[in-house]
Amino acid sequence: MNKPIIRIPAEDLTRQYQQIRWEIAAAIDSVLPSGKYTLGPILEQFEQEFAAYCGVKHAIGISNGTEALHLALVALGVGPGDEVITQANTYVATAFAVNYCGATPVFVDIEPIYSNIDVAKIEAKITPRTKVIIPVHIYGHPVDMDPIMDLAKKHNLKVLEDASHAHGARYKGKRTGSLADAAAFSFYPSKVLGAYGDAGAIVTNDDELAHRLRVLRYMGQEVKHTHLVIGFQQRLDPVQAAILRVKLRHLDRWIEKRRQLAALYTQLLQDLPINLPQEAEWASHVYYLYTIRTKERDALADYLLQHGVETQKIYHTPVPLQPCYQYLNYQPDDIPFAYNYAAKLLNLPLFPEMTEEEVKEVSELIHRFFEGCLNE
Ligand SMILES: Cc1ncc(COP(=O)(O)O)c(C=O)c1O
Repeated sequence: MNKPIIRIPAEDLTRQYQQIRWEIAAAIDSVLPSGKYTLGPILEQFEQEFAAYCGVKHAIGISNGTEALHLALVALGVGPGDEVITQANTYVATAFAVNYCGATPVFVDIEPIYSNIDVAKIEAKITPRTKVIIPVHIYGHPVDMDPIMDLAKKHNLKVLEDASHAHGARYKGKRTGSLADAAAFSFYPSKVLGAYGDAGAIVTNDDELAHRLRVLRYMGQEVKHTHLVIGFQQRLDPVQAAILRVKLRHLDRWIEKRRQLAALYTQLLQDLPINLPQEAEWASHVYYLYTIRTKERDALADYLLQHGVETQKIYHTPVPLQPCYQYLNYQPDDIPFAYNYAAKLLNLPLFPEMTEEEVKEVSELIHRFFEGCLNE
């Protein structure tokens, strides 16, 4: 079979680049002649601006989102023998960061509406070894944080948001990143706020934690050549920070565009036998991913591809069932919703530069696919 020609990609970062290329060129040009290629004022400016955007006191630029999670866990005191609770459907980095500390990830099933961690199932997983809970604002919809913070208070635990899908999302009016002890963000290129390479950050209101993180991210130093602790070489570089400063200025407009396109999909796909993303009345979803669920997932994905539409099956296997976690011996029955959903989910194309016509075309094809199923 010939490889189909993709007319509507799952994501297209080049369209955005073409719109802002001169701003980006100027931003990069503000770094390169300075001769300052690590840390420095441009990184500090981005950190201040991103902290203000999230509504917190501190942002610490880190080399990528995985290391942001890892260093945040180290700074929160997680070490060998500890346990960290997170959800079964996330990017594997959330769990790997726990392993990097010598600790064990403990996976909780998801709730059926927003696919976030099932808060009601967390308490049963808390043991004397539990140190931290990592809720993940999956696909861009915030987790219901209040009950998690209450639980953490009751059991004296810390909470680290994995906000890598949810830059700019709001929970009860407050931005993600400002809802717990600390939050880790990825700025992987395709994220809602993405760099042109690897990048990440940790945000927090805690002065002491912020200080510890600055020491940890640069080889355990407060002043150069005195290494107070075994640290890491995980700084965000200033070229990426300069790029992120430009993109941060556009972020709210891009989020609004994502929300408009998502609303159009939801309107056009309403009457089909598929589960569509929901938005809680206390939430503002940023639609990093527009994730639908259907039993016909694989056939639908093939049909769309044959008609030039690319989709993605992001997280088609829950993390605890990945080969690397066989040693923890999770079974599908331990995480029934996450297991079930993983086989049904499909991410439709959605990015701010996508046109309404493209959303209509994808929706029209999905209608035609289901009409075909009915006529079979
Ligand atoms: C939920 C989640 N956590 C963590 C990460 C890790 O971020 P990075 O790819 O920047 O290391 C990602 C990114 O893909 C993610 O989606």
